[in-house]
Amino acid sequence: MSFPHVRLRRMRRDDFSRRLVREHVLSADDLIYPVFVHDLPGRATVPSMPGVERLSIDALLAVAEQAAELKVPALALFPVTPAEAKSLDAEAAWAEDGLAQRAVRALKARFPQLGVITDVALDPFTTHGQDGILDESGYVANDVTVHALVKQALSHARAGADVVAPSDMMDGRIGAIREALEAEGFVNTKIMAYSAKYASAFYGPFRDAVGSAGNLGKGGKHTYQMDPANGDEALREVELDIAEGADMVMVKPGLPYLDVVRRVKDAFGVPTFAYQVSGEYAMLKAAAANGWLDEKACALEALLAFKRAGADGVLSYFALDAARWLREG
Ligand code: PBG
Repeated sequence: MSFPHVRLRRMRRDDFSRRLVREHVLSADDLIYPVFVHDLPGRATVPSMPGVERLSIDALLAVAEQAAELKVPALALFPVTPAEAKSLDAEAAWAEDGLAQRAVRALKARFPQLGVITDVALDPFTTHGQDGILDESGYVANDVTVHALVKQALSHARAGADVVAPSDMMDGRIGAIREALEAEGFVNTKIMAYSAKYASAFYGPFRDAVGSAGNLGKGGKHTYQMDPANGDEALREVELDIAEGADMVMVKPGLPYLDVVRRVKDAFGVPTFAYQVSGEYAMLKAAAANGWLDEKACALEALLAFKRAGADGVLSYFALDAARWLREG
């Protein structure tokens, strides 16, 4: 009879020793709550994202109050644009009195301590639902799009956004936005770069939420968002965004791309975020609604996995629920 010399189960046996050797913790400080804001009164449900609503600015302020109370550090704002405000050149994206800009002003006036992150991308504002301006052939033209993104980012900064987050995947946009922010004196406006954003099918419910799915039709975003097959390329994207002045980088989607999160954190050691996207949220919600998964346990496990993979924080539609669950213990 021989005995194991090492018994890893020994430290797992008791609650006190499990707690002593626990390597990672998830806290409310790790969470960013994405919110959809519309230019209508009240709230509207998003069928493919149970528990998520499009909010009027008034309703948004009520949600912001909960976020502040739960110590969730920041909100990420996504405007829902009515059809009449969409155009080929996406001009509504940088209107000083646009919905996103008004929402930022309202949030910063009421909750100055709460971080406000804005989405810099043209897809809510283009008639075709692409994140950029098209050339004659229908290709998303890089440099004219960057020029528009700079105007959009500046309008967010003027409204008081703490962080601008370009989610468009154009080449050179971080450098151009950083340059423009500096030139206008916005030296403390942070940039969270969607650096490794993949052309993912997991964004489906988000496109329902912002109403860009119908416009996009069958056209994908493969000419600018990354190929899900690629990992090395993500490191090149992150390296460029850091060099161009990003303060934080992001990998998106989340759970299917945790290998990329780990590689980015190991390679650069910069503030690294992951986006648990709408499809990841919808999967968990659907399984929980069927009684197939325990929502709270699975959501908290998924969020903790981001921390273990090296993420400093996670954008998650579970953010407020998770902060509540963590508080309950
Ligand atoms: C658009 C944008 C998307 C998401 C965030 N910003 C969708 C897309 O690229 O089509 C997806 C977020 C989610 O699925 O939760 N710039």
